[in-house]
Amino acid sequence: MGLRTPVFAANWKMNKTLKEASLFFETFLNLLPTKLDAEIIVCPSFTLFHSISSCSSQKIKLGAQNIFWEKEGAYTGEISPVMLKDSGCQYVIIGHSERRKYFAETNAIVNKKILAAFEYGLKPILCIGETLEEMEKGITRQILAEQIKEGLFRTAQSDFEKLIMAYEPVWAIGTGKADSPQQSNETIRFIRETLSELCGIHTASKIRILYGGSVKPNNIKGFMEQSEIDGALVGGASLNPEDFAKLVLSGDPAKF
Ligand code: 13P
Repeated sequence: MGLRTPVFAANWKMNKTLKEASLFFETFLNLLPTKLDAEIIVCPSFTLFHSISSCSSQKIKLGAQNIFWEKEGAYTGEISPVMLKDSGCQYVIIGHSERRKYFAETNAIVNKKILAAFEYGLKPILCIGETLEEMEKGITRQILAEQIKEGLFRTAQSDFEKLIMAYEPVWAIGTGKADSPQQSNETIRFIRETLSELCGIHTASKIRILYGGSVKPNNIKGFMEQSEIDGALVGGASLNPEDFAKLVLSGDPAKF
């Protein structure tokens, strides 16, 4: 076990009914060992929150896929940080590329959500990543540095340790074309260096940074062998209980 406990986060996106979620947990929980040195976070749709917080086990933490930055009020269709806390949620994905693309979330909006999450005691999973076009132009690092610095603007020093980062190259999401473990490790090293400019090297070395984008049972090992990669944020493969269990168990095979 290294300095940082591995994290496996399932981003279910807009998938699963109540029945499908309960079938998932029936299988998934049976596949987990009694002792687990990895953190598991499941981020379902809001409609599943209540049933998951009551039917899932202590081993699984609940995360949201989005948040609004106000505490309450006339914001039709939005869910506040207070409501998330109240429903047993501990984590929240912020800045996913699908929110940036389909809902026009800018770094400034991401920043408001990050600050609101911290204010109300939720731990953000901040997603960053370059598009194919940005990668081809050779501006990946510039884009990532902007997403980090603008997204985390005015974050209190004491909050950085609660942060989880997810590096998700947009071109790797849902395409079956994952980044290579070596290249993503180098990019994640750069992300940690950029974080250390904001919070110092000591704190930056404690922040978990995940890789996301077409993570599957047959490629997870390569990522988990890298020194900078602390786990995965998983879309498609997290919908299947056997596949997600295989990913989670890859975190520390010697222990199981
Ligand atoms: P896939 O694992 O389906 O590529 O999705 C990754 C993702 O977007 C997780 O947030």
